[in-house]
Amino acid sequence: MRFQPSTTRYDSMVYRRSGKSGVRLPALSLGLWHNFGGVDVFENSRAMVLRAFDCGITHFDLANNYGPPPGSAEETFGRILREDLRPYRDELIVSSKAGWDMWPGPYGNWGSRKYLVASLDQSLARMGLDYVDIFYHHRRDPETPIEESMGALDFIVRSGRALYAGISSYGPEDTRKAAQILRGLGTPCLIHQPRYSMFDRRIEDGLLEALAGEGMGCIVFSPLAQGLLSDRYLAGVPEGSRASKNGFLKVADITPDRLAKVERLAALAQGRGQTLAQMAIAWVLRHPAVTSALIGASRIAQIDDGVSALRNLAFCHEELQSIDAILSGIPRKSA
Ligand SMILES: NC(=O)c1ccc[n+]([C@@H]2O[C@H](COP(=O)([O-])OP(=O)(O)OC[C@H]3O[C@@H](n4cnc5c(N)ncnc54)[C@H](OP(=O)(O)O)[C@@H]3O)[C@@H](O)[C@H]2O)c1
Repeated sequence: MRFQPSTTRYDSMVYRRSGKSGVRLPALSLGLWHNFGGVDVFENSRAMVLRAFDCGITHFDLANNYGPPPGSAEETFGRILREDLRPYRDELIVSSKAGWDMWPGPYGNWGSRKYLVASLDQSLARMGLDYVDIFYHHRRDPETPIEESMGALDFIVRSGRALYAGISSYGPEDTRKAAQILRGLGTPCLIHQPRYSMFDRRIEDGLLEALAGEGMGCIVFSPLAQGLLSDRYLAGVPEGSRASKNGFLKVADITPDRLAKVERLAALAQGRGQTLAQMAIAWVLRHPAVTSALIGASRIAQIDDGVSALRNLAFCHEELQSIDAILSGIPRKSA
């Protein structure tokens, strides 16, 4: 049946400006790293993308290597575009990236102009698109001059393959350099995509400050620490969960110490009338330099849960202090 999007899809989503640009992104974006590959059930992937769009999530994040197999998430998304979302292309912000291992030989990885341009051409073919809205260099390549990688992003934008340039997982100093080079070339860097969650606060040590200073937006990935910051693992490792697949989230990552913190955080979230996943999303969005929380999902209910986080984004001082205390392992005060 032909997809008819909800007519109320823009009524409750929050949109935030990406740095000093003209683009506003949804406060919640959907990434297709897991659960959208060739090995996954297409109808579930399709249902999640369409539900997200119905909720006002206009931004879908991909990369050349998402799958498995690598490339297949872009094929899945291309099919959804072709069959359902084609009439709504101008309502979407589609991103892709290159920077990790993608094909054999010296031109299928890292940060050369040769790799970045060829990879984006492959991504466009897989998605059936003429252009992506944002193209990222996925990680800094220490052996390629930053001028070459940024020059490739500038060329990619000028040649019409992407509307905006972005960088991912660059440190504060490289971020400043990249921003400066791109500004000089006349293609300002729209956005940075770093990891950020209550369990990984490294970007608070200089990166967020650099982004604010450069007028760049920030979309943070894995705000749920791949599912750890939710009730997913409180009663063991469920069949089919990310940790059960022992890929990027390992069972060994679910330590008793982390679970104890998750339990205390979940109790705090409950006091705010939220699930822990909702509080974890609201928490990354509390920072004024953060434009969007980029979540993953394996089912529609997780997208609904994430969207509901936006109903309560405010934290009082005491709540933030309690979260800091839990995260730093300070024991609960006895009554
Ligand atoms: N730039 C980079 O280098 C980079 C790296 C990693 C990710 N990313 C991007 O960021 C996106 C998000 O990363 P991520 O998937 O790690 O994010 P995440 O939101 O931290 O983790 C998503 C996982 O958490 C679980 N989950 C989601 N919502 C839940 C809820 N409401 N309650 C309970 N569990 C819930 C699901 O796990 P189950 O599958 O177990 O249900 C889901 O697959 C990726 O898709 C990708 O676009 C970028």
